[in-house]
Amino acid sequence: MAVQTLKDLLDAGVEGRAVLVRSDLNVPLDGPNITDPGRIIASAPTLKALAEAGAKVIVTAHLGRPKGEPDPQFSLAPVAAKLADVLGRNVQLAGDVVGQDALARSEGLTDGDVLLLENIRFDPRETSKDEAERTKLAKALVELVGDDGAFVSDGFGVVHRAQASVYDVAKLLPHYAGNLVAAEVDVLEKLTDDAQRPYAVVLGGSKVSDKLAVIEALAPRVDTLVIGGGMFYTFLAAQGVSVGNSLCEESMIDTCKDLLDRYADVLHIPHDVVIADSFSADAEAKTVAVLDIPDGWMGLDIGPESVERFGAILRGAKTVFWNGPMGVFEFEKFAAGTKGVAEAIVEATGKGAFSVVGGGDSAAAVRQLGLPEDGFSHISTGGGASLEYLEGKQLPGIAVLED
Ligand code: 3PG
Repeated sequence: MAVQTLKDLLDAGVEGRAVLVRSDLNVPLDGPNITDPGRIIASAPTLKALAEAGAKVIVTAHLGRPKGEPDPQFSLAPVAAKLADVLGRNVQLAGDVVGQDALARSEGLTDGDVLLLENIRFDPRETSKDEAERTKLAKALVELVGDDGAFVSDGFGVVHRAQASVYDVAKLLPHYAGNLVAAEVDVLEKLTDDAQRPYAVVLGGSKVSDKLAVIEALAPRVDTLVIGGGMFYTFLAAQGVSVGNSLCEESMIDTCKDLLDRYADVLHIPHDVVIADSFSADAEAKTVAVLDIPDGWMGLDIGPESVERFGAILRGAKTVFWNGPMGVFEFEKFAAGTKGVAEAIVEATGKGAFSVVGGGDSAAAVRQLGLPEDGFSHISTGGGASLEYLEGKQLPGIAVLED
């Protein structure tokens, strides 16, 4: 990546300068409780390095998808508290995004202070399609850091979005890739340009429409592509099999059929599944062959034979990329598929394979299922961003740093 990095900024000197950092602090919440702080922990090193070097650190981030206006359920308050914990220093939370409180607090910062602005998506200009609108918000962010300010892009999970705090602001300030963005891009470059064979990819998750482009991009370049999770049932339906009440995207059936025909030697799908009589943690569950899903039942996990077969492939791989759980791992009865596949990847890593967990739900699954985080070579913080990179798309938040 031919961009200026955090090291370049630190070498140039930041003491007494205000530095705007775009982080991705979009963590899952259960009410006010953060259920997986992974992104906060991953964002800390860049913020810490800047604060320790004497910068006045102003952090901007989003949480969820509020509708362009303040909404207490999407407040960054719980995130500010956790960030303070992780950084071991005080983190102020502005009561607004770029309003009077944000401005007053920015002006009051002293060297090494950290200020988190309220959810940037409370301002409708952040996600506006109109570049002029986004630029107005970007200019308001620039005002907070002043004339000798700088911008550090460290929100890897959001670099695929051409939004004001990710993209437009980088055009207005000297810009640098933070440590997290640089590390994530290095890993993805390695997967793209230097993957050792055999190369196995595991894709799961609920929506097949989100994954078609990456299947199209990766299937010709990898040795094995394993498919599980809710998205698998559309592939099953494409083979004319009855899927009961399982998830199925009817409009994608033809595309899935075409992929199965073209990549028959690469795509591997489950032969057995764990089905449930309802979508709940205490549903009745049983294992059946994929041809035997009764009406009224739904598949919520891959079955033990599939775990065994996929596991054998993964244990023999030298490179593994995994995105998306194999089942509803949040419910104990339907977690074995995701756990079994993850354990096989951990084993492969132990034997020297390079393994990458592609963010989002799979990263959360690693932590929630108690798997060792150091059992994987890299756990990405960006689900959508890493998929778009592997699809070969240009990521606006990265491209803008190259100018
Ligand atoms: C994510 O959760 O993948 C990132 O934070 C981006 O969020 P978004 O999909 O709402 O843009």
